[in-house]
Amino acid sequence: MGKLTDGEINHIKDTWENLDKKGITARALTRVFVVYPWTTRLFSKLRGKFAAGDPAVQEHAEKVAKALGDTVKSINKMEEALGPLSERHQTIGVDTQNFRIQHVDPESLCCH
Ligand code: HEM
Repeated sequence: MGKLTDGEINHIKDTWENLDKKGITARALTRVFVVYPWTTRLFSKLRGKFAAGDPAVQEHAEKVAKALGDTVKSINKMEEALGPLSERHQTIGVDTQNFRIQHVDPESLCCH
């Protein structure tokens, strides 16, 4: 991945710092369960309750948010920071090929 500028890193850190981390992560998980319903099969520990407010979803959201926070701290070593978690997901049965880090040319995102 291209190297981020100091300004971009500060922006990511500031944005992350000011988010309701557990709340948005719980809502993101719920969206995954709605949009990709087959993923619920991997989460037997949620016992059929997939709403963002359910305690088990909140508990899982806290773990995911912590991992994202650790990644933000190591933003320039993202592949290294996420390596063990990526391997763990492969053992669980998540097809990590669907979740590769995208190499996006920032110029291609803009409109002027
Ligand atoms: C931003 C992407 C993701 C992050 C940061 C993340 C983070 C985590 C973390 C921290 C754990 C706990 C690991 C442990 O206890 O050892 C976990 C477990 C898990 N993740 Fe993810 N995850 C991500 C994406 C996904 C996706 C896309 C799926 C599949 C739909 C998925 C499915 C699972 C499953 C099934 C578990 C195990 C749940 C259990 O404890 O039974 N994850 N994830």
